[in-house]
Amino acid sequence: MDLAHHLTENKKIKPNYSAAGYVKVLAPATVANLVCGFDVLGMCLNEPNDLMEVKLLNEKKVIILSADGYPLPLDPAQNTAGAPLIEMINELDTPTGFEVTIHKRIKPGSGIGSSAASAAGAVVAANHLLGNVFSNKDLVRFAMFGEKVASGVKHADNVAPCIYGGITLIRSIHPLDIISISSPDLFVTIVHPQIEVRTKDARQILRKEVLLKDAIRQWGNIAGLVAGFMQSDLDLIGRSLEDVIIEPVRSILIPGFDEVKIKCKEAGALGGGISGSGPSLFMLSRDEATAKNVQTAMQDIYKQIGLEFNTYVTTINQKGVKIIEG
Ligand code: HSE
Repeated sequence: MDLAHHLTENKKIKPNYSAAGYVKVLAPATVANLVCGFDVLGMCLNEPNDLMEVKLLNEKKVIILSADGYPLPLDPAQNTAGAPLIEMINELDTPTGFEVTIHKRIKPGSGIGSSAASAAGAVVAANHLLGNVFSNKDLVRFAMFGEKVASGVKHADNVAPCIYGGITLIRSIHPLDIISISSPDLFVTIVHPQIEVRTKDARQILRKEVLLKDAIRQWGNIAGLVAGFMQSDLDLIGRSLEDVIIEPVRSILIPGFDEVKIKCKEAGALGGGISGSGPSLFMLSRDEATAKNVQTAMQDIYKQIGLEFNTYVTTINQKGVKIIEG
């Protein structure tokens, strides 16, 4: 046996199977970027959630099933839940596999982490069945393979908050360095205009270089936002929700964008912007009454534009993927 082979062999993980062999989880939506923190900040939401059921198999295989006939790719390598599980089972020392049934409730292409919910839900559920032999950081490492299937690149600003809960800072993905950021109990209003923006496309239109003056403003905002969350300084959070690099380019894809920002601030929101790569927009508010006024403002705008939409008023989910059975 050569040394390289020997080393990989040694790294294989021994599962400690749970008796049930079946688990049901809720995999939550997430808001990536949090306006100024492109690819480095994300937040987990209490609503909406995907429902996922995962069964243990005693052969090295991943099976993907879509409940309710929702059109998802069923080839595991092309599925955002399947690709992370293929990576995971390759690191096990026993022939193990999973059958995953996805009840898709978070619409793909909505900008609230639909692909991440599938990826994170699958790896948390599978790890539960294996006796939690992998760390949260390992789970993020696996889940990023799902994001690669969905958008062509690995990014962790949806999968990390989905797995860790709360608000996370991804300081680096090579090597993975994830920091949980404490925050006040804020309310989140989301509007999802019913158009689809593919993350892959929304990344392709971005400029590859930034001006130093824009970079200075952006990193001031990122630091201000993180400090605002940690110190529960709502005004600082509001001032820091500004993006001078990504949003000016992406906002042209979203009808009503400027109006939503103006009218929601008038309705009392601290601030907000594009959720992930859009088209959903999110706003943070200090209390529920304000978050509902913000929702009304959003509804009025899209009714006037004549575009179908969904809205949610929710809160920050501090726990991430939740095991509800098994
Ligand atoms: N940071 C990613 C992007 C998130 O904005 O492209 C995608 O949900």
